[in-house]
Amino acid sequence: MIVARTVEEIRAAVQQLRTNRPNSTVGFVPTMGYLHEGHASLMRKSAEQNEISVLSIFVNPIQFGPNEDLERYPRNESGDLQLAGQCGIDIVFLPSVEVMYPQATKTKIRVAEVTEGLCGASRPGHFDGVTTVVAKLFNMVKPDRAYFGLKDAQQVAVIQQMVNDLNMDVQIIPCPIVRETDGLALSSRNVYLSDEERRQALVLSESLQMAHSLIREQSTITAAELNDVIVKHIQAMPIADIDYVEIVQYPSMERFAASVKLGEQKSDILIALAVRFGNTRLIDNLYLPYQL
Ligand code: PAF
Repeated sequence: MIVARTVEEIRAAVQQLRTNRPNSTVGFVPTMGYLHEGHASLMRKSAEQNEISVLSIFVNPIQFGPNEDLERYPRNESGDLQLAGQCGIDIVFLPSVEVMYPQATKTKIRVAEVTEGLCGASRPGHFDGVTTVVAKLFNMVKPDRAYFGLKDAQQVAVIQQMVNDLNMDVQIIPCPIVRETDGLALSSRNVYLSDEERRQALVLSESLQMAHSLIREQSTITAAELNDVIVKHIQAMPIADIDYVEIVQYPSMERFAASVKLGEQKSDILIALAVRFGNTRLIDNLYLPYQL
């Protein structure tokens, strides 16, 4: 496995493998490291679908707000390299902040509308930081396909919009959420949770499962009714502090009107949650594609 740390090194490494493996495609998995099974599923999929797979590990400061967890974001370079090797990664790109941002960024990529609600509303500027760094990484790696987890469903929608709008020559591959056996969605931030916070955090996946059953069993349930049931269920956990519960169309992220009957909708539905447990903000979601 090649480890590249500068822009010149990553470009040369990708070019070298493309030359050695004619007609190959490059799969790319951008991450912030502290890799878990969710990331492993993206890396394995990339290795299955492409002759060359690139992983990037970069904790991107411009997507964190001033009071967020940039300083304490967990890191484990040696563990990450080991997992990457086991998942078929050929090149790991590990740039420093100075490599990614040698001078203050004067150019930002902003996707309108899709970024306005949910995490975009709670974390002002977050998605501008994500789209800017992802565009930079795409320009460095020049992948044919890029793999993103649907746990960050809004991020996937925002990146897909950027790729469409800017005619970027890369196929975005959304991948399913990976969960612990008890339902907790895998996240690098789960490491922050105390035992009690982790126990209470199971309310996220439980309430999504409950929402799924309700939509299946009661096609006339409205967006407002379902929202209410989910909020009450989460609030039954004493330390759960709700940031948002949203029921939106996917991928536009437009909120359904309160009176809309969800079982009768002819669009993809996303139920998205962001809830704090102590100092840790967790997100989770349920994606229900419309089936004809
Ligand atoms: O999902 C993440 O880990 C990050 O937002 C990403 C896409 C790597 C950009 O920094």
